Amino acid sequence: MRRPFASVLALAAAAAAIPLASPVPAAADGVVIGGYPVEISQSPWTVALSSRDRFGGTRVGQFCGGVLVGPSTVLTAAHCLSADVLGAPPQKVRDLRVIAGRGDLLSNDGKEIAVRDTWVNPDYDSHTNAGDFGVLTLATPLPESSVIRMAPSGDPAYGQGTAAVVYGWGDTTGAGDYARSLRAADVKVLPDANCEQAYPGSADGTYEAASMLCAGQLEGGRDSCQGDSGGPLVAQGRLIGLVSWGSGCGWAGSPGVYTRVSDVIRTLAAKR
Ligand code: ARG
Repeated sequence: MRRPFASVLALAAAAAAIPLASPVPAAADGVVIGGYPVEISQSPWTVALSSRDRFGGTRVGQFCGGVLVGPSTVLTAAHCLSADVLGAPPQKVRDLRVIAGRGDLLSNDGKEIAVRDTWVNPDYDSHTNAGDFGVLTLATPLPESSVIRMAPSGDPAYGQGTAAVVYGWGDTTGAGDYARSLRAADVKVLPDANCEQAYPGSADGTYEAASMLCAGQLEGGRDSCQGDSGGPLVAQGRLIGLVSWGSGCGWAGSPGVYTRVSDVIRTLAAKR
């Protein structure tokens, strides 16, 4: 099974159909898998990360998602900023941009903003995938009205069974069909036990409840997928997760694993 960075690399490889170990659900057509189109104005905090030099211009270089958590602050996945994905350390990727306010990647809506600073969680573990987040500081700020609040530790939004929505421009079938326009999928926060059972430790990663969040549908069907990484998982209007990893996309018994935002808050507070 592929590592997260290899999933993003699949994008760089111009989305050649990826042979899957088991079939995708017949109903998959989503974010995201099993999703539906959304207007960017409904989720202005959802941004696309782009590098045309690295990923080509056909989809304006989109390779991951991100979330605006402050006017100049974007959270994304650490694996999106790895040298394996970018071909170089993020500081060296001169055309790394954050695209905000553009749902249809091929439109001229919104803004492309240069990145002034990048910080990757030094404790990110690429074997387990724990601590999968990084921070981009924008060269010019976006309006406060586009920012989403991060759910603090103990927030009921993290409770199991809570309805959540994941957003992204990623693969909609699991076969390399990257979306042109932003999509969303309705999922549920699942008990940690579901992901502990699904991911006790394999080449894909190891589920750790302290820093990860389990979400999706146990029966499969709705999920995030390649290209959605770093993007938002939102519940009760607050950010609870960042798309991180999983085995396949939308498979029964293999829910999506998200970076737990309360752990991001804790790590960032300790850093100051
Ligand atoms: N690692 C993927 C990416 O880089 C995200 C995979 C999410 N997978 C899932 N089944 N929810 O875009």
